[in-house]
Amino acid sequence: MEAGSAGSWTDLPKSRRRRGFSIDPARVARWLDTISLPFVIFFVLSDRAIHPAYGMSWYRKFRLGWRLFRINRAMRAGTSWRAVLVMASKLLQFPPGQRGVVVECGCWRGGATAMLSVVCDIADRQLIVYDSFEGLPEACPGDEMAVPSATGLFRASLLEVRANVRKYGEVNRCTFVKGWFEDTLPGHEGEILLAYLDVDYQKSLHDCVTNLWPWLVDTGYVFLDEYLVLSYCGLFWSERWWQTHFDRQPPGLIGAGTGVGVGQFWVGPYQRHGRIGSSAQRPWQRAHSTGYTRKDFSGYWGFYPDTGTESGQVSGQK
Ligand SMILES: C[S@@+](CC[C@H](N)C(=O)[O-])C[C@H]1O[C@@H](n2cnc3c(N)ncnc32)[C@H](O)[C@@H]1O
Repeated sequence: MEAGSAGSWTDLPKSRRRRGFSIDPARVARWLDTISLPFVIFFVLSDRAIHPAYGMSWYRKFRLGWRLFRINRAMRAGTSWRAVLVMASKLLQFPPGQRGVVVECGCWRGGATAMLSVVCDIADRQLIVYDSFEGLPEACPGDEMAVPSATGLFRASLLEVRANVRKYGEVNRCTFVKGWFEDTLPGHEGEILLAYLDVDYQKSLHDCVTNLWPWLVDTGYVFLDEYLVLSYCGLFWSERWWQTHFDRQPPGLIGAGTGVGVGQFWVGPYQRHGRIGSSAQRPWQRAHSTGYTRKDFSGYWGFYPDTGTESGQVSGQK
């Protein structure tokens, strides 16, 4: 879920609204989101690694950013358009001739799906969307992120999601796979260039990474929505987890805890039990970003002055 819902201005008592700085932070955030749009598009998409074959002129880049922004607003998507713009900048680096699809795990009403489908249309890629279409699963014991009362939260039917993507995105780019990740993802086949995971629970993240990582191309990306929660990001830094499942060192995660810089102000830390993404102490800050890793990254610390330096290179691949 996109973070950043501060309490509304109207929640404040009238006496406080009259006093001093009487500006609604949520309104300012929306305003900043809008006026910073051209700057975000310029800075995120001014990336020389974008492959020339996609013909991404500045006009096309701005048109893409504007479309993502509009979809995000219209659908009140759980994922920021800024995050999808970053994903676009990475996906468009792969040469058109390279085989591979984009995968989304966890689509809710299809907000990010619609945005990603537009990017996939430019990149001429298929988007495979995995979800239960029944909301969150039952809490699994030991899952730090799971709450028993949240079972079924974010439920949207496949029919509803398909209709949303038809209306706002490029539904012809999408293949929907219904079911629990532990049942559907082992059946995935085909190289993956980029996977976007917005699945909330630790068990769901575990299922996604164990099943999809082997299909990632050597420089394939995994984007994460829950980048604010350090212990959740911990999967990408866990030596034990990566040794156990893939006989390699952890890849690390760019943006862990705060997200990559995409023109919003978020200092952190994230408060698990406060308001999502924002807090009473920092009402002006918003976390509308993403975190990501790549298959060939290494997040391994190998410097031990007493016993000798170890290689930080990943061991599961050349
Ligand atoms: C926060 S929502 C996704 C929001 C969406 N990315 C957006 O931008 O609006 C989380 C989604 O993950 C799905 N999900 C979580 N764990 C799952 C599992 N184990 N199997 C299938 N779907 C799961 C839920 O059904 C839900 O749609």
